[in-house]
Amino acid sequence: MKAKEWISGLRVYEPGKPIEELARELGFDDVAEIVKVASNENELGPSPMAIEAMQEAVGEMHRYPDGGAFYLKRKLAEKLEVDPKNLLFGCGSNELIVFLCHVFLERGLNLVMGAEAFAVYFLAAALYEGETIRVPMPEHTHDLEAMLAAITPETRLVAVCNPNNPTGTVVAQEAIDRFVENLPDHVVAIFDEAYFELMPEEQKPDVLKHIRAGKQNLVVLRTFSKAYGLAGLRIGYAIGHPETIDLLNKVRQPFNVNAMAQAAAMAALDDVAHLVETREMVFQGLEFFERELPRLGIETVPSGANFILARTGNGREVFQALQKRKVIVRPMDPYGLPDHIRITVGTPEQNQTTLDALKETLK
Ligand SMILES: Cc1ncc(COP(=O)(O)O)c(C=O)c1O
Repeated sequence: MKAKEWISGLRVYEPGKPIEELARELGFDDVAEIVKVASNENELGPSPMAIEAMQEAVGEMHRYPDGGAFYLKRKLAEKLEVDPKNLLFGCGSNELIVFLCHVFLERGLNLVMGAEAFAVYFLAAALYEGETIRVPMPEHTHDLEAMLAAITPETRLVAVCNPNNPTGTVVAQEAIDRFVENLPDHVVAIFDEAYFELMPEEQKPDVLKHIRAGKQNLVVLRTFSKAYGLAGLRIGYAIGHPETIDLLNKVRQPFNVNAMAQAAAMAALDDVAHLVETREMVFQGLEFFERELPRLGIETVPSGANFILARTGNGREVFQALQKRKVIVRPMDPYGLPDHIRITVGTPEQNQTTLDALKETLK
């Protein structure tokens, strides 16, 4: 066989092992004892209303889903105060990142991103032979001026994760507005707001106002994976100018978002109590880690999301030692942060277990 030459050089995203497999390898009997705080999931679980909607939808799974996500689009448009034409759904917001790279990149073109930002941007650009320009992030934060300055005539996409994964840092509204104003026409800016609903109100950026005002080269990405606790269903969305959305829609497969995901997302949008409870859990958890980790001599980075970057020293060793104590975090060496781990904020009990395991590990 003769595959395209550059495909064999692609790097593959390495997901963590299934928790059951890890338990088997480490010789633990009870999977329930393992605290997995490695993937920024919602440890409260899905909204009970979403669970009920999924149970009701089960009997209809012989049908193809609504490829246009008509009802969900209408409901979400109303909530976001945009037109349904401004929206497109994906199999996770991850798929929308791939659509953006598919539409805008090819050999010789590039994507600008933060040096410590979400790795999928790098991987998705490479899928279309796009290069990545990585811009340093002072104090682990996107430097929007430097990102603008890094744009070349060959740049087609610039990605800002806000808050950023894995650093949790947030960029301020004035910086965003200046960036949008100075963005060259040949570049589409992506504001990846995967953690938007979990941010403290006063930190929430307003990028949608630029889209409502008709800005064409701007796309916001959000997801049901984080605040709504539906990561397993794979559903996220893009908000953009109708012409930009139409372009992304051209590379979308007809039934990319499954029917169960659409049903659950509809219900999750109505469950205000679950969102409030989730936000409370996250704020309390962040406070806990910001207070307790420095007592162990571990520096933390201020976070606007449901995880915290912690400077433990030798992140990979700490990750392995924690695993033996039944706590799974994420080592940060793939992000060029070998001294750090990333901890997802969980329930108070999970947070305490994680802290106790860290104390033992660092003894
Ligand atoms: C910044 C950022 N963007 C996008 C995603 C992808 O989310 P999903 O594909 O589950 O919507 C994640 C998930 O970790 C993320 O952290």
